[in-house]
Amino acid sequence: DDGLMTQQRGQWGTRLGFIMAAAGSAVGLGNIWKFPYMTGENGGGAFLVIYMVCIVVFGFSLVMAELVLGRMAQKTPVAAFREIAGRRWSPVGGLAVLTAFVIDSFYVVVAGWTLAYIGFEASGALATTNSETLSATFNDLIGSPIQPILYAGAFTIACAAVVIGGVGSGIERASKLLMPVLFVLLVALVVRAVTLPGAAEGLEFFFVPDFSKVTGETLTAAIGQAFFSLSLGMAAMVTYGSYIPRERNLPADAFAVVSLDTLIAVLAGCMVLPAMFAAGLSPGDGGAGATFLVLPAVFDAMPGGALFGVAFFSLLAVAALTSAVSLLEAVVCYLFDEYGLSRAKATIGSSVALFLLAIPSSLSFGLLAGAKLFGMSFFDLLDYVTSSIALPLGGLLTALCMGWVVGPRAAQALSPAGRSAPRWAAFWLFVLRFVAPLGIGWILVQGLIG
Ligand code: PHE
Repeated sequence: DDGLMTQQRGQWGTRLGFIMAAAGSAVGLGNIWKFPYMTGENGGGAFLVIYMVCIVVFGFSLVMAELVLGRMAQKTPVAAFREIAGRRWSPVGGLAVLTAFVIDSFYVVVAGWTLAYIGFEASGALATTNSETLSATFNDLIGSPIQPILYAGAFTIACAAVVIGGVGSGIERASKLLMPVLFVLLVALVVRAVTLPGAAEGLEFFFVPDFSKVTGETLTAAIGQAFFSLSLGMAAMVTYGSYIPRERNLPADAFAVVSLDTLIAVLAGCMVLPAMFAAGLSPGDGGAGATFLVLPAVFDAMPGGALFGVAFFSLLAVAALTSAVSLLEAVVCYLFDEYGLSRAKATIGSSVALFLLAIPSSLSFGLLAGAKLFGMSFFDLLDYVTSSIALPLGGLLTALCMGWVVGPRAAQALSPAGRSAPRWAAFWLFVLRFVAPLGIGWILVQGLIG
């Protein structure tokens, strides 16, 4: 019975395919939509430095921890924690799946905006550098009651289609083809953005840290963003790890994924922040709308701008798709492994549920804008609770579990089957045992006490 399950799970076709798919999960709206405005709102350079520290110290170790757990268990998070670390760790997997579900529900809303923007660019509605026109277009879209929900629905259906298609054929093929194109386009846009008049100030804001404004909130925002961007602290990387064949050298793949993700976030920062300064905006302006507000102006300043615009938002939609697919995949795999639901049933059921949860998220930019809980709209609340609390908490627990309970077995499993643990494995375990739990715990407390 177990053998049959393993056969049905599928595996990544090639090493590059896996890296592309895991990078496809990591690289998404988190890098291009969220990272620039989080940096803008949290003081620029200082945020970038703290973010980088979080990536290097916690991110990389935890990506390896999650991937290796998945590979050891060949199962999804709940079963993986249970089988590798014992019954009392399975709630960590449960928290992960729940977090994935909630993130996906607001993720599809922003992905829906991306779809809408493909149309806007194509129709010429954004062919202006006037920031008032651009912000009116954006606010009309997100504030309207029906349109953004339909886009979110369309996006949800696309995700479900990929997930039903299965691991190798759907996710892997799409990622391998489109991620490199997105990268090239991004580089071209950075070149344009940094050469706009006034852009230099934006680069200075991004790269010259001013630590005087750092608060507990900055720290939580940075670690939350690091986890969000790396798809960490919830089921995604464990699930993807369960598809990596035993003969691969896992740390090298993890390193590639973390570097790519970070590179793309920094490139997105180099594109959006200078463009904001060039448009006469200040970096905190626009909040969650920043990327959508300033990019059309960058396109408009390029020859063939509308074409760039259409291409860019299409690729962003694909990047969002590969990330949302990993979120949905986590939920679907859980239902498949735990309850034996068929892939199709699990996918359709969870997609309907998350779409229903997406509706109030979308409305919180319009009809429900006044409804606040703890001073946050429904959308912001879901984002805050998942990114700034649930993901770091999930990461902390994963670090404890992999460091203390699984320990040397995990170190051994980093290497291809039959080879001994890497020489630096003791250092990795030290980070998982002490550095990550204490560091993440300290940051979580800083956030709570403000
Ligand atoms: N990492 C993805 C992004 O940056 C979002 C994501 C978060 C995906 C958590 C899976 C898990 O857009």
